[in-house]
Amino acid sequence: MKNIVILISGRGSNMEAVVRAAEMDAWPARIAAVISNKPEAKGLEFAQARGIPTAVVANKQYATRAEFDAALQETIDRFAPDLVVLAGFMRILTAPFVEHYAGRMLNIHPSLLPLFPGLGTHQGALDAGATEHGATVHFVTAELDHGPIVAQARVPVLPGDTEDTLSARVLVEEHKLYPHAVRLFIEDRLSIEHGEVRILHGAPAETTS
Ligand code: GAR
Repeated sequence: MKNIVILISGRGSNMEAVVRAAEMDAWPARIAAVISNKPEAKGLEFAQARGIPTAVVANKQYATRAEFDAALQETIDRFAPDLVVLAGFMRILTAPFVEHYAGRMLNIHPSLLPLFPGLGTHQGALDAGATEHGATVHFVTAELDHGPIVAQARVPVLPGDTEDTLSARVLVEEHKLYPHAVRLFIEDRLSIEHGEVRILHGAPAETTS
């Protein structure tokens, strides 16, 4: 049984999609905790209602990024995670933090990386006249939005699209993509070779712990 810790900053709809998939498909994994850097994050209510342990490590209470990341790491590690899932966690992470979770931290980003890293991805795609847009799940590395890509989902950009309509179309796909990618990790089907993700077919026999 693997432990998953999910980090959120707000709405938490991707966290919710992962929690629901884990329950519905009886993953050999438990959502050990949902942790937010914002006390008011809506997603915390969903997690609490589901009986999932929650914690808040408020970045506002720390003078430096390094101090915040150290406190966050300590809180995460109390739940002995096999995997840390960033689900709308809107913080830039320090290199030591990222290194600590190397190969066991995933992020979802609302663009077809390497296109449109950072913020404002949907408007960026519209401004660039893109005909296609989407979302990417990747392993987290020290360079923002640049880690090895696990999976992507594509949507068309339609005439008349606004940031709202486009982001809503992408979000529907995110909610399928993230559970799919997390499940591949849980089933030990992801390996990183020369900076690229290989998806292994057929899960190794499950061991219980
Ligand atoms: C999602 O669209 C996610 O891809 C994006 O924030 C949204 C969070 O929504 N993440 C980033 O932009 C990370 N750079 P949610 O809280 O409902 O999951």
